[in-house]
Amino acid sequence: MSTAKLILDGKEYEFPVVVGSEGEVGIDIAKLRDVTGAITLDEGYGNTGSCRSAITFIDGDRGILRYRGYPIEELARHATFVEVAYLLIYGKLPNATELARWREQLATNSLIHESMKHFFEGCSHVAHPMAVLSSMVTMLSACHPHEEPENIVRLLAKAPTLAAFSYKKSVGQPFVYPRTDLSYTENFLNMLFSLPTGPYEIPKVLDQALNLLLILHADHEQNCSTSTVRMVGSGHVSLFATIAAGICALWGPRHGGANQEVIEMLELIARDGGNYRKYVDLAKEKGSGFRLMGFGHRVYKNFDPRAKILKKAADAVLEKLGVEDPLLEIAKNLEKVALEDEFFIERKLYPNVDFYSGIIYRAMGIPTNMFTVMFALGRLPGWISQWKEARDGGARISRPRQIYIGETQRPYVPLAERA
Ligand code: CMC
Repeated sequence: MSTAKLILDGKEYEFPVVVGSEGEVGIDIAKLRDVTGAITLDEGYGNTGSCRSAITFIDGDRGILRYRGYPIEELARHATFVEVAYLLIYGKLPNATELARWREQLATNSLIHESMKHFFEGCSHVAHPMAVLSSMVTMLSACHPHEEPENIVRLLAKAPTLAAFSYKKSVGQPFVYPRTDLSYTENFLNMLFSLPTGPYEIPKVLDQALNLLLILHADHEQNCSTSTVRMVGSGHVSLFATIAAGICALWGPRHGGANQEVIEMLELIARDGGNYRKYVDLAKEKGSGFRLMGFGHRVYKNFDPRAKILKKAADAVLEKLGVEDPLLEIAKNLEKVALEDEFFIERKLYPNVDFYSGIIYRAMGIPTNMFTVMFALGRLPGWISQWKEARDGGARISRPRQIYIGETQRPYVPLAERA
């Protein structure tokens, strides 16, 4: 086993080096504080491995993403989201019997407790669907208070119902109950788009696009929301509360909330006469506070393989649906200009998964404020698998340290003497 040497205050220490199955190297500093009294400082965790994981492999420099060893391109081409969910959570592709059972479990658990409808009725119709979804996922623990393996399937099965109800609430339409005769994705589309006024035929192209989008979002190793899930889960709170925390973390505009922001940015550019160069310049201007949403990634420094798949899919889906979206043209122009610009090249800023996903969701008729909810539905199996891996592996409670930079000890000042 190789080791890494550290010299601190003239004293030499040795630490074990851990090598992953894809050759990633990590210095195991678990004993660092015990033996040296020092800690590491890595704000934003850019150089910190928080766990050992066998779920997802990313090589950001080469644009590689694999779930349990399977390339994302192959899964996107051949698998369904339900299969991918099983793969992530249980570590293997299901055989025919396992898949049939898994589908049946997901279908039969899709109904939520009728009393939960009152929570939806109590919500304001202007509430963001992410606020509603995260709250409702927490509330599942009220209906299923015990820690049991069935909670995994309950959560996966009920989340589309909760998401669709939050949408129906926001548009003031009656809730549509889940149907067990439909597939996972068909059922979700039916709950979103069907109305009591007439039959709804689920377009095949929508079902295929949804499967693709959910698969591409299904896991992404230790990103902000997944790290949140592992962190919150390490305190042994319920699965539902843990995943609700992940949903909240995802909501941020620098994370999953970026898909909504991309469309809002493209709409802004369209309203401004389509002058995308102006916004590229604004993003480059230090202090403008403006970023090109859907660009940049902490890990991908060459290309985001998910964005590559989605760019192609956007063209295909829009064509099949007969939708002409001027925002797609603006997005392509923006990408072209940004990719030729020194500022973006130097900083290795490429379109990420959120850049083209919104265009597809829009074409599918999904409203902008539901985009991050769609991301959350896709990420669900990833969060669950990461939570399960940590739990099954007996992970310690997550408790980082800090370098304190505040005041040193000082005496209390009585009110009358304060400046
Ligand atoms: N537009 C303009 N400049 C940017 C952008 C952008 N989208 N992203 C990064 N930069 C600049 C940043 O100003 C900095 O410049 P400088 O070195 O001169 O100060 C440099 O690039 C490095 O940026 P950073 O903020 O240190 O990078 P990070 O790894 O901490 O952040 C990120 C990654 C994704 C949060 C960031 O690129 C960003 O805010 N992008 C826009 C939001 C977005 O699309 N998020 C979705 C990410 S993919 C899906 C997901 O994870 O949910």
